[in-house]
Amino acid sequence: MNLRPATLSDIAFIMACERRPGYEPHVGRWPEDKHRATLVDPNHRYFIGEVDGALVGFVILRDFEAGTDSLYLKRIAVHETDKGHGRALLGAVTDWVFANTRFHRFWLEVVDGNGRAIHVYRTLGWVQEGIVREAFAEPDGTRGSYLQLSILKPEWEKRQTTPRHTQNGLRNGPQNNLLLNQVTVSATDIEVSTRFYETLGFKLIVHSPHYRRFEVGDGTDTFSLHIADSAEGAARGPHIYFECADLDARVAALKAKGIVFESDPVDQSWLWREAWLTDPAGNRLCFYWAGDARRYPPWRVN
Ligand SMILES: CC(C)(COP(=O)(O)OP(=O)(O)OC[C@H]1O[C@@H](n2cnc3c(N)ncnc32)[C@H](O)[C@@H]1OP(=O)(O)O)[C@@H](O)C(=O)NCCC(=O)NCCS
Repeated sequence: MNLRPATLSDIAFIMACERRPGYEPHVGRWPEDKHRATLVDPNHRYFIGEVDGALVGFVILRDFEAGTDSLYLKRIAVHETDKGHGRALLGAVTDWVFANTRFHRFWLEVVDGNGRAIHVYRTLGWVQEGIVREAFAEPDGTRGSYLQLSILKPEWEKRQTTPRHTQNGLRNGPQNNLLLNQVTVSATDIEVSTRFYETLGFKLIVHSPHYRRFEVGDGTDTFSLHIADSAEGAARGPHIYFECADLDARVAALKAKGIVFESDPVDQSWLWREAWLTDPAGNRLCFYWAGDARRYPPWRVN
């Protein structure tokens, strides 16, 4: 993705992007005179994304002269969705912001329900800060909300030095990557154990009567409790989870090498696809793929 500042001659492309069918609920549409004025306004910057010399999308940034440490992503849109352009464009813009400006926080608001955009932001390390409730009127008279997301400079820096994966998986890594990013241990009293791990600083993100999941540290890795059938169950040790994007192919290849799996990959109700095996000492291992459902299941709390 080549990123370059937009010029007045790009406005027709920018307006065409804004007006793509289906974009109405998610992105604003400005008239030409508004773009002309904003493009030369020092409080704003416009960027164009290009692939192989072709224009693929644009970004508008705001608050260069607001005197704060935060920069606002006012608008992003690509001409063709689902071709990887949006993720590449936002990645390039985020790199530009943190590599070239003094800003500490880069933030945006997205319509709650714009699942594609939210997914792209999260996979690039953006974190939801909150919800701006019932902030606007929908055409049918109901009220819609915005989610507020941001990425901080230290978070961006960490992603530069640890390119092992994005928050939801393996996008930056080779396809044969295998991540140890989830451990589950037993609890005999799940409330007591939950308090224990919260005191350790773990952040509770999934709460059900028999199961709890936490983000650990910067949130890249997760840790879970499940109620053991008995104290003996707790003594059987933790369940170690290895996430891989090529789960089915990997399991097939390992089986061909003689590794015995107790269960082939199965889609679980909690949105993970799991295959289980036991090592020679009896430790329980799970090869799985969860993607966003590990940190951002629909039932996430916090
Ligand atoms: C949001 C936008 C910039 C994303 O760019 P894009 O080029 O379409 O996105 P990409 O192709 O890079 O990635 C799309 C991802 O979303 C996923 N996706 C598609 N539809 C989805 C949905 N309804 N819910 C969740 N994820 C979805 C795709 O599977 C893909 O993820 P993956 O690569 O992990 O499989 C672009 O769709 C767009 O311009 N939309 C209209 C304007 C808009 O909404 N702007 C954002 C305003 S805040």
